[in-house]
Amino acid sequence: MRNIDALNHVRGESVYLDDIPVRQGTLYAWVFSSPVAHGRILNLDLSEAEKMPGVVKIFTAQDIPGQNQIGGIIPDEPLLAESEVHFWGQPVAVLLAETELQARLASHKIQIEIEKLPVITEPRDAHKAGKLIMPPRTFTLGNTETAFAGCEYVFEGNAESGGQEHLYIETQGAYAYVKENGSFYVASSTQGPTAVQRHAAVVLGISMSKIEVDVMRLGGGFGGKEDQATPWAVMALLGTALTKRPVKLALHRPEDMRMTGKRHPYSSDFKIGFDKELRIQAYEVTFYQNAGAAADLSPAVLERTLFHCTNSYFIPNVKATAYSCKTNLPPNTAFRGFGGPQGMFVIESALAHAAEKLGLETWELQEKNLLKDGDEFPYGQITEGCEAQNCWQTAAEKYDLPKLREEIAAFNQQHKFLKKGLALMPICFGISFTKTAMNQSRALVHIYQDGSVGVSTGAVEMGQGVNTKMLQVAATVLGIDPNRIRIETTNTTRVANTSPSAASATADLNGKAVQMACEALRERLKLHIAIQLDLPENTPIEIQDEQVWVAGKTVELPWEKLVFSAYWSRISLSENAHYATPEIHFNPAIEKGHPFAYHVYGTALVTATVDCLRGTYEFDSVKIAHDFGSSMNTNVDLGQIEGGLVQGIGWMTLEELLFNPEGRLLSNALSTYKVPDIYAVPKEIAVHFMATQGIKLAIFGSKAVGEPPLMYGIGAYFALRNAIKAFRLEAVPRFSAPMTPEKVLLNLYPDFGT
Ligand code: MTE
Ligand code: HPA
Ligand code: MOS
Repeated sequence: MRNIDALNHVRGESVYLDDIPVRQGTLYAWVFSSPVAHGRILNLDLSEAEKMPGVVKIFTAQDIPGQNQIGGIIPDEPLLAESEVHFWGQPVAVLLAETELQARLASHKIQIEIEKLPVITEPRDAHKAGKLIMPPRTFTLGNTETAFAGCEYVFEGNAESGGQEHLYIETQGAYAYVKENGSFYVASSTQGPTAVQRHAAVVLGISMSKIEVDVMRLGGGFGGKEDQATPWAVMALLGTALTKRPVKLALHRPEDMRMTGKRHPYSSDFKIGFDKELRIQAYEVTFYQNAGAAADLSPAVLERTLFHCTNSYFIPNVKATAYSCKTNLPPNTAFRGFGGPQGMFVIESALAHAAEKLGLETWELQEKNLLKDGDEFPYGQITEGCEAQNCWQTAAEKYDLPKLREEIAAFNQQHKFLKKGLALMPICFGISFTKTAMNQSRALVHIYQDGSVGVSTGAVEMGQGVNTKMLQVAATVLGIDPNRIRIETTNTTRVANTSPSAASATADLNGKAVQMACEALRERLKLHIAIQLDLPENTPIEIQDEQVWVAGKTVELPWEKLVFSAYWSRISLSENAHYATPEIHFNPAIEKGHPFAYHVYGTALVTATVDCLRGTYEFDSVKIAHDFGSSMNTNVDLGQIEGGLVQGIGWMTLEELLFNPEGRLLSNALSTYKVPDIYAVPKEIAVHFMATQGIKLAIFGSKAVGEPPLMYGIGAYFALRNAIKAFRLEAVPRFSAPMTPEKVLLNLYPDFGT
């Protein structure tokens, strides 16, 4: 089935936040933010700005009727700075004017006097200074100390991975207006409607019931709108509360890039030990996470790094410690993979480092240590339905790995200044929110008396195709034409207490709730049929292809007639279902449990060609064997693999966030921050859909697909590294991503510039 948004998207008819027609009297907001990364506010003078044409109101922390607090996990983040600023771009005041330009021009007239304080941008510096978001966490399995003592080979090193700008095409934004009796409406470009509602209630000092949050769709979120869509929606609501006029707030790109957090950069140390047979016996790793100036989602991201620190490998003795370090950068946040990729980059670096020292190919170590059924993860979960080896072997066979290696070796023989590199990248990603309580969902399904159907869930459509999947679930269970079904906006008055659409679990969680609601409706209709037709008990009844089938034969009762007759018999045609993922649990006191409903596996073969005169590179091909379970929509799922892969390649190669020592973002526009374009996309992307074990906790057995493919992009880093080594045998490039063309060049010619 084609994505239900496809036609509207290409015609430009899909409605995003900026397409909502504004009401009469709408004010436009502009956010005034801190011009320094750390300091004490000595004076804030709004008087000149207030006199500017069109300005209606400028508000600051002092105007907040409730609490000035938007921290999601830890209450450590003000909506608007009070006496101190902690990052360059931290919101200080919001200007409301008749036009956006007027608000923006007025913002230049705000006078702020700040006493500068020392700025920390690196996580290890923060760690040394004792600036931590929360106490460190450690996952342990077995005993690394004794295991290292018995190892034949032990290697140590470090690895760094950089941040990443989400670059959702639609920037952050919201549109708010007053309803009546002190209640409010806000349309928000958020992955977490309930997060917006909850924090707005706290800041406005009113109850959640007085705030309706509505989400049509997002022009991309990628985690950047899981928690960080909240401040802008709350500011719009606050502006509305203070002026009683509708307020629209939509960030421009440079403001969005400056004010919002990104993927967490990590700096990590590793130690890895092998026995004679090259089986990994012990692994110790310490992660220093660059959290930025407030907690935001950092504690949860940190946790997922620990969960994924051994990637797709079995390691019997593990000690992994993680520090969430407080720096003067915008609070870093969720980003596709949610800390998992950062953890996986380190174990892949450790394996590449060990292989280098042992004079082996990395894949020899990778293949030997892949997970299998019955292996234990460092957090105590036992692997079931493990596809790690199956994916690896399928990729190697299907794409003829031996031949690929020969071709690359031959090419490298024949070419002096062009070198190819190959890397294998296995992945293993846990599906479920790591906070067990968040794994719950609801759906509200109405069958209207003409037989059409409206479905509301907590799922937010952000381009990942979840609405198409929800529609497929409803159509399949009800046995009707998908064209009858409408997927409604995500709205807190129809579906309450939603978890954010995140953790790749949106289709599973909300799809299960839709399935339950539709099944209940279907059973109710079947009972109605049995009564109407006076059928003996246990007569098999089906609703299929818009028809009623009794004991295998159609009874000429089409769907529309059935629905109307049920309505006329005063049968409820609405259902509300609640789903909570069974079987999962986790005890943070001992860091053990069974946190994931299941794992998704896969293996990618990544081939790169480096131009060894220029340091530039291309990716020839990425060939993937991916564990889909039984994919319910191969179009949508293929799109997720391609998009995730390219986003991962961007993170590992081109995208370089640069902050100067004063904490000012230098790469603050698309002219200075390079995202993958069509030339950066591999020339060939092959995806083999492995029909793997049907997992009952995946919706219709179709495994979650949103985040896992991003981690294939890690292979791009190692493919480049191998190509560099093909040019200069003695090259030992540091494990420091992204591998930009500049870094490639410096690795090819280390004496260059010295
Ligand atoms: N795909 C598109 N097109 N746009 C997005 O914003 N977000 C990713 C992924 N794929 C995203 C996307 C992230 S971070 C997650 S967690 C999942 O989609 C969320 O959706 P799902 O749970 O339905 O997979
Ligand atoms: N993944 C994504 N988002 C989250 C998670 C998670 O595990 N936990 C809280 N928010
Ligand atoms: Mo995705 S990072 O869980 O929104």
